Amino acid sequence: MPYGSRLAAMMTRRIGRECVYTPSARLALYLALRRWCLPGGRVLMSPVNDDVILFVVLAAGLRPVQAPVSQWDGNIDPAAVPETTWRNVDAVLTTNLYGMPDRVVELRRRCDELGIPLIEDAAHAIGTHVDGQPIGTFGQAAAFSLSKHVAGMACGFLAVEDVRTRRELELLRDDLLTPRRLRHDLTTTLRPLARSAVRSLHLVRPVWRTMQRLGLLERDDFRMALHAPRLAGSARHAPSLAAYEPWVRVDLHGFRSRHGALVRGQLELRMALLDGDLARRRAGVSLLAGTTWATPALRERTAHDGSPGLFRVPLLVHDRNALVTRLVDHGVVAGYVYDPPLDDYAGAEFVEPSPDPSAARWFAAHTLPADPLLARRISDALTKELATPAHPPIPARTPEPDTTTTTPPTPLGQ
Ligand SMILES: Cc1ncc(COP(=O)(O)O)c(C=O)c1O
Repeated sequence: MPYGSRLAAMMTRRIGRECVYTPSARLALYLALRRWCLPGGRVLMSPVNDDVILFVVLAAGLRPVQAPVSQWDGNIDPAAVPETTWRNVDAVLTTNLYGMPDRVVELRRRCDELGIPLIEDAAHAIGTHVDGQPIGTFGQAAAFSLSKHVAGMACGFLAVEDVRTRRELELLRDDLLTPRRLRHDLTTTLRPLARSAVRSLHLVRPVWRTMQRLGLLERDDFRMALHAPRLAGSARHAPSLAAYEPWVRVDLHGFRSRHGALVRGQLELRMALLDGDLARRRAGVSLLAGTTWATPALRERTAHDGSPGLFRVPLLVHDRNALVTRLVDHGVVAGYVYDPPLDDYAGAEFVEPSPDPSAARWFAAHTLPADPLLARRISDALTKELATPAHPPIPARTPEPDTTTTTPPTPLGQ
C-alpha cells in the first residue's frame, strides 16, 4: 500500500478526487508545480499570500507573476489581469485566501482557453464550495492542509484527476521525503496538545511574549527575512527543494519528513473531527459576518449561501498593526497576516510585480484575520478596543456621457 494511503482515502471520500498524502500542503504544491510546469515557466498568483508559497514557486524553478487582486478578498481579479499577462503565463495558482473562494469558474475557463494548468491552493479552503462544488476540484491539482484545520500540526494532500496521475505523484513524493525523525514526530504530536493547554490555561499572552523575547518565532515581522543575496544564489540550483529549504521550512520544519504510524494514527483521528470543526467555524463566521468589520463580500456570501466554514475571517480595520499587538492582551494571537504584498516584499529581482498593486496593498494593510473559533472573544475585544472598520477607497469613476442620475454613488460597505 502506498505511504499514507488510509489518510488519502479519507480525503478522497470527502472531495471525490484521487489524493496523495503529503506531510504538508507546501510539499503538495511543490509536487504539483514540478509535475505541471517546466522550469523557467511563469506562474500567475496573488501577492496577498504566505511568503512560504512564494519560495515554493521559486524552488520549483518558476517565476512568480503577481496578479491584480480584488480589494474585497485579496484573491486574483481575473478581469483586471492584462491580456498581455494572460498570454505570457504558463500556469495559474489560486489562493482561496482565508477560505474565501477564488473566481475559479472564470480562472478555469481562461486556463482552458490558453491551454495552461490551474493549480488550486486549497490550504485555507477545505470547507469551501462554489456552486455546490468543493474548492480543490476545479483545477488539474489542488493542495490541502490539515494543519490549518483540526489543529493537526502537519499533513497535506494533493488532489488530482485520475489514478495514473496519483501514482506518478506518489513516486515523485517518495523521492522528496526525508527519513522519519522521532523528534519531528513528537513535535507534530505534542504541539497541538501544548497549544490547547496554553489556551485553556489562559497563558496565551505570557507564552507568546516569552517566545518573542527568546527569538523563538521565525518571523520578527509579518514576513520572514528575505536574505536576498542567499536567495539569488539558490536560483542557480533551481528547481531544488533542498536549495530553498531555509525559506520553505519556516513554521513547519518537518514539512517533508516521513511521518511514522504515531503521527498518521493521530491525524486519522483528527480528520474524523473535521466536520465538527467546520460546523463550529460556520457558527463563528456567522457571528463575525454580522459585525461592522466584516467585508461586504463575506456578508453577501453568508446571506446567499449561509456561512462558509472559513479558516480565518478577513475583518477590515484601521490601525491593524496596533490592534494585532493589543489583541494579545485579550488572549488572541492573530497570525496569517500577509503584509506587505509579495511584490513589495521580494522586489522585481524575485517576482514580476503586479501592474496594479493598489488593491493588494490596501487589503494587506487593513485585514485582520480572525479565527472563527474565537469569534466571540475577538468581537468583544475589538469592541473594547474601539476598532474602526476600514472601507476600501472607491476607484475614481470615469464620467459617463449620459448622466441620468444625480445621486452620488454610495461607497460599498458603508
Ligand atoms: C495560503 C497557504 N497555502 C499553503 C500553506 C502551506 O500549508 P502547510 O503549512 O500545510 O505546508 C500555507 C501555510 O500557512 C498557506 O497560508
